[in-house]
Amino acid sequence: MTPALPPLTSPSPGFGLGLRTAHYGAFLQAAQPVDWLEIIAENYLVPGGKPLRMLDDIRARYPMVMHGVSMSIGSVAGPDPEHLKALAALARRVKPLWISDHLCWTGVHGRQIHDLLPLPYSEEALKVVVRNLKQVQDALGQRLLIENVSSYLEFRSSSMSEWAFVNRVCEEADCLLLLDLNNIHVSSVNHGFDALDYLAAMPAHRVQQIHLAGHTDHGDHLIDTHDHPVADPVWALYRAALKRFGNVATMIERDDRIPPLPELIGASSTPPEPLRPKPWPAPTARLHDTHGHLDRSGSAAGGVPAPPVGRAERLRRRGGPGRPNRRRAAIGDLSQRLPRPPD
Ligand SMILES: [Fe+2]
Repeated sequence: MTPALPPLTSPSPGFGLGLRTAHYGAFLQAAQPVDWLEIIAENYLVPGGKPLRMLDDIRARYPMVMHGVSMSIGSVAGPDPEHLKALAALARRVKPLWISDHLCWTGVHGRQIHDLLPLPYSEEALKVVVRNLKQVQDALGQRLLIENVSSYLEFRSSSMSEWAFVNRVCEEADCLLLLDLNNIHVSSVNHGFDALDYLAAMPAHRVQQIHLAGHTDHGDHLIDTHDHPVADPVWALYRAALKRFGNVATMIERDDRIPPLPELIGASSTPPEPLRPKPWPAPTARLHDTHGHLDRSGSAAGGVPAPPVGRAERLRRRGGPGRPNRRRAAIGDLSQRLPRPPD
């Protein structure tokens, strides 16, 4: 287990969901019990059109993070400059809390395979990934979150475990970590390792986000399908992760057989109390405008009415504009490196 180091992460915005088109209407019609949303960046890289209009409308109501699926951070050719430009432009529009992509490769010679393919865990691959990550982080001007993928094969050329590789990538590229617990579980069953060994090796001070999702059990192997509720072994792993990493921003990914939003947010699919992470130090959705900045007026930017104000916020407002509010100041800049609550 890595020694305790000061966190490099931002405070948790609480419990989130992956935004899918099936739920656009529900998010626009009423306030939902979700603190933030993750968008698939590639769905919004084409300028103009309905997707971006819907995105802007929903962004006015919820903080967002950007999640990529095609950076191909393991490709020898390096990141595509045009893709990075488009990502940076989307980031200027969305003002995400952070940006993530996968520790994998997704194509070769300019062709996208549209799958998240595993890497050999070798010194050679490590050098390529670290070089690419540094380029991406320089281009975007911020640390990237890198997500572990599930896999169904291993390479003979690997010279270290996946968890050792992930740890070295994070430290040598100085990036952050999006830990997908379903992916760890799927790979642990497929390859026969202990998922707790994986968790124990992760750099706790770099874990910014957790993904939970469902998979399909084929008896002698699991497939990462995102079409079922979170499975019991993944919930068990999540409990272990919370003990190890504390209050980490957590969200559910669902990409197939997508149920109506109330069902997805229901107790059978999402973290039950008391596991559901809380926004730290306070709810964020109603306090941010479309640029991720603190809403000082009580209304979201762009003329969109703010959601109803809760009791704590009403009490805070009675304090008057001249009264300093440390909690409010902390929420206003999520890039501040504030200490986390104790594990
Ligand atoms: Fe994931």
